[in-house]
Amino acid sequence: MHIDGAWLESCSGDYFESDNPFTGQPWALIPRGNRDDTNRAVQAAHKAFSSGEWPKLSASQRGALLRKLGDLLMTHAQELANIEVRDNGKLLAEMGAQLNYLPQWYYYYGGLADKIEGAVIPVDKPGNFNYTRHEPLGVVVAIVPWNSPLLLTAWKLAPALAAGNTIVIKPSEYTSASILEFMKVFEQAGFPPGVVNVVTGFGPDVGAPLVEHPLVAKVAFTGSKATGEKIYETGARGLKRVSLELGGKSPNIVFADADIDNAVKGAISGIFAATGQTCIAGSRLLVQESIHDEFVEKLVDFAKTAKMGDPMQLETQVGPVTNKPQYQKVLDYIGIAKDEGAETRLGGDKASRPECGDGWFVEPTIFTSVNNAMRIAQEEVFGPVLSVIPFKDEDDAVAIGNDVVYGLAAGVWTQDIRRAITMAERLQAGTVWVNTYRAVSYMSPFGGYKASGLGRENGQEMIRDYMQTKSVWISTAIDVPNPFVMR
Ligand code: NAI
Ligand code: MG
Repeated sequence: MHIDGAWLESCSGDYFESDNPFTGQPWALIPRGNRDDTNRAVQAAHKAFSSGEWPKLSASQRGALLRKLGDLLMTHAQELANIEVRDNGKLLAEMGAQLNYLPQWYYYYGGLADKIEGAVIPVDKPGNFNYTRHEPLGVVVAIVPWNSPLLLTAWKLAPALAAGNTIVIKPSEYTSASILEFMKVFEQAGFPPGVVNVVTGFGPDVGAPLVEHPLVAKVAFTGSKATGEKIYETGARGLKRVSLELGGKSPNIVFADADIDNAVKGAISGIFAATGQTCIAGSRLLVQESIHDEFVEKLVDFAKTAKMGDPMQLETQVGPVTNKPQYQKVLDYIGIAKDEGAETRLGGDKASRPECGDGWFVEPTIFTSVNNAMRIAQEEVFGPVLSVIPFKDEDDAVAIGNDVVYGLAAGVWTQDIRRAITMAERLQAGTVWVNTYRAVSYMSPFGGYKASGLGRENGQEMIRDYMQTKSVWISTAIDVPNPFVMR
């Protein structure tokens, strides 16, 4: 683990295994942290926030450190990608693209660090000068999931550091290796010790004590709704700020007037890219009745061509499921869908292709005859499992699209500009894509409506979520007036 600028064993000396999902075998030993380790890390982060070099740095100097980190990550992209592929099963092709893009978060928020300006308020009280300062919060805990460990860490780290906070990262127990490797790169950037710390281990042993710790000011979480709710509840005691980026059951909506070939690609990228293990997965494909059968046929034909296998091979398109419980969960949901009466149009089982070896592979699966009330249409599977649901018209598409607890994202495929704008307005989702899917940028706010979360990541405004505003009053009065009356 990495605490206060040093590499440490866990306090207990225990380790746990991390698996390579392509081989189904353990390949790394990760220190198993507990409450004592979290306390060490939070104390280190608190010390780094309140004394030493970090609080003395100007915002421009913090920005320069972040840009240096971005440069270093660019240089080390390949080795970080290799490790994430081994631990997570993500495609090397996807990791290559992701890691070349990831430094932009550090450049963008590095650039933003010294552009956070307070205001001079022309207050209505004569003889008073009032101005605001935007100050960091203190110790921020970043709890990240297993699906995109390095990227989702960057989404939290870059703005939190730009704002002047210090951080404790808790990686997922399934994918800690790339974040530990990231710390080797981070060390070279020249941040003072204790500014960023990493404690590895399980949710109840490490995540929960971090959220409970009285010296923690904010928790930034990405993961499941169930864990997000627990964190919100625990965070409420101690009045911590909590931001949550939770799951989704996003509708990807295809109208009859869409460019059909593009919409097929959009449906594929929405559910089979990253093996469907993304919070923004377009897991409900809503297709207008008049083109339903033709569309499903094209979709199935396209999905059939997806190459499964070794994620290290650049031509692989669908990799394994990242961890064993998730593999079981995806297979369980396939069973649930079948029991509910969904019709299996493609896949519907574990993959036994020779190129999949002993890995945790699930065949790209497409269900039709799905009704939006079914569990397969309501609950997040987080795997390569698509439910196709027919709809009549715009009103019907909106009603079905919004009829889930989640509201993370939505896709709309249409050539009609009026329809595109109307749908973008009516869908209850933090992100709406028209004639595209899965586009994200450091510049554009990302987050959930409804049960998909609280707060936003990315973009300029969200840096304020890592800051607090102070109002400073200075009197120019020669004599203090009547002390018994409010000024
Ligand atoms: P999870 O939400 O339990 O884990 C996410 C992170 O929270 C991990 O680092 C975990 O160790 C930590 N954690 C767990 N319990 C905690 C607690 N009580 N206090 C503080 N931290 C805690 O997700 P998990 O178990 O890895 O996956 C379960 C399901 O969650 C998946 O099947 C998927 O549906 C969903 N998921 C959603 C993600 C998203 O991007 N929205 C990412 C990963 C999973
Ligand atoms: Mg692993």
